[in-house]
Amino acid sequence: MTRRPLIVGNWKMHGTRAMLSEARAIDRAAQRNMKVEVALAPPYTLIHPIHREAEQIAVGAQDCHHAEGGAFTGDISAAMVADAGATFVILGHSERRLGHGESDALVRAKAEAALAAGLKIILCCGESAETRAAGKAAAFIKRQLKASLPPPEAMPADVGERLTIAYEPIWAIGTGTPATTEDIAEMHGLIRELMVELFGEEQGREVRILYGGSVKPENAAAIFAVPEVSGALVGGASLTADSLMGIALAASEPFDP
Ligand code: 13P
Repeated sequence: MTRRPLIVGNWKMHGTRAMLSEARAIDRAAQRNMKVEVALAPPYTLIHPIHREAEQIAVGAQDCHHAEGGAFTGDISAAMVADAGATFVILGHSERRLGHGESDALVRAKAEAALAAGLKIILCCGESAETRAAGKAAAFIKRQLKASLPPPEAMPADVGERLTIAYEPIWAIGTGTPATTEDIAEMHGLIRELMVELFGEEQGREVRILYGGSVKPENAAAIFAVPEVSGALVGGASLTADSLMGIALAASEPFDP
């Protein structure tokens, strides 16, 4: 596989215009490390300012509404984030599934809307600690992904380019302790099998599978050495150029994206 590793910073609900200097520093550093693709998903309010200045990094949104427009106070459509300069959107993050009651069906509708608006999507999946303790993580992830993704016939022909999966076990997010490399290997392996089953050998192998959950510069190299890890979706450690680019540096060592 010849794809470059992808490192995406999910700023969550962090960042005012004071953070634009950090985004600039990330963009400058990304220009010096062309082995890795770096992208930022800031809050909606910073998409356009970052897009306007960025020369290297892609900018995306952390969510979008499933409708094209209408009486949805406070919501933002896929076309609106694209208009602001976003080229991708993160969908189905556990903080939206749990904090906003987003169902698999809603995530699927959002994915369809985002793809129709020309955006790439990063579709998140992840099991809870209880599901893992019950030995049901693998079955849960397969079911969650199948139910959250549009059916293969509704996906674009270049699905390998347009779709990225992020495996983010809920119990590893924001805890400082990522999943073990054994757990990551098992889950990424089964997600790859599912991608090939759904989208065929060629496109299914192109889909990138990111790991997310307490990725830091100190643990990134070990995670990137795991087969079928194509990069990372980073929360807390994406808020400074130093730590995000420390992770990007670890990804520029040889590994199998
Ligand atoms: P942390 O890197 O802060 O654990 O967050 C991971 C995450 O949720 C990225 O989307």
